[in-house]
Amino acid sequence: MKNIGVSIIGSGSAIPKVFLDNQQLSQIVDTSDEWISSRTGISQRRLADTTESLCSLATQASLAAIGQANITAQDIDLIILATSTPDDLFGTASKIQGELGATKAVAFDLTAACSGFVFGLVTAAQFIRNGVYQNVLLIGADILSRWVDWEDRTTCVLFGDGAGAVVLQASESDRLLGFELRSDGSQNGCLNLSYQPQAKEIIEGVNVSQGTYQPISMNGKEVYRFAVQKVPEVIEKALFRANLDVEKVDWLLLHQANKRIIDAVANRLKIPSEKVISNLSNYGNTSAASIPLALDEAVRKGKVKSGDIIAASGFGAGLTWGAIIFEWSGIKLSQK
Ligand code: UT7
Repeated sequence: MKNIGVSIIGSGSAIPKVFLDNQQLSQIVDTSDEWISSRTGISQRRLADTTESLCSLATQASLAAIGQANITAQDIDLIILATSTPDDLFGTASKIQGELGATKAVAFDLTAACSGFVFGLVTAAQFIRNGVYQNVLLIGADILSRWVDWEDRTTCVLFGDGAGAVVLQASESDRLLGFELRSDGSQNGCLNLSYQPQAKEIIEGVNVSQGTYQPISMNGKEVYRFAVQKVPEVIEKALFRANLDVEKVDWLLLHQANKRIIDAVANRLKIPSEKVISNLSNYGNTSAASIPLALDEAVRKGKVKSGDIIAASGFGAGLTWGAIIFEWSGIKLSQK
């Protein structure tokens, strides 16, 4: 059987209208622009209001990606939504499918926190490689502001909302060059948005759990240490699988969590700062959206060009982390 390759042929993104800068945050909690900027590199973030939903942001990002890929919604076979903040715990991907009118597509949610987009890319690629699907829409979207404790200065300064999407397509040449995915559940307690059970007796002797999800809690120092150590390792492994030296990487595209983490990883890999894509300053940590959002901005600014090699890495709750090396295609292959 002929090998089927995978190419990423379009990207799109969407951000909420409202933004909140560090100065405004310092009116809510005991913090300062100086602390946030110097410790994280974040200046402002976008926040979804009640007129915006995960579905609306994701749909907007998807339409942009589909347009850039020069296909129609009816061409899509599969939609994967990477998110930890669905509008509906039963899943939001199908609603997006309905909004897009992607009548042929099957849709499902995938949850791997801030690693969701990288895990989603690898998942999407498997369906293409085995010949089942031709066109896959992958969305990374999160509205973490719904789950932030706005009185906790150690977390509320970090997060923002947004959505990004890409279209993957079967192609003769394979442009997804290598990947590595990892999880370590023994460190699960480092970063959580967890369900807190509360007993409710529905009839004598029968208790069910009717609790609520608790705001995001994080051991920032542990997550920082983990990221700086594990992300370079996983990128090196993915490069090894791709049979590429680090010098061949045109762009380093990390999950946008902290500028110090991005700088440390780039230093460790000896990748110069000119090759680092970052928009963290404007959006904060948008979880599963951060990589496709930064990718789309770089593509639309003409920074990332067809043929460029990108090393992308996501890391976060789970703990989960992963890297993928791909060559940006960005054009409809059948038109080449
Ligand atoms: O997407 C998931 C991945 N998540 C991450 O990658 C997050 C990784 N971790 C980090 O980015 C960093 O650990 C943080 C940015 C969260 C924190 O930076 P840090 O340099 O590790 O600060 P720290 O937690 O050690 O706190 C230093 C000080 C503490 O005060 P004391 O104990 O030294 O008096 C904190 O109470 O800074 C204080 N602090 C703040 N001060 C002003 C913590 N948050 C704030 C704040 N404003 N917002």
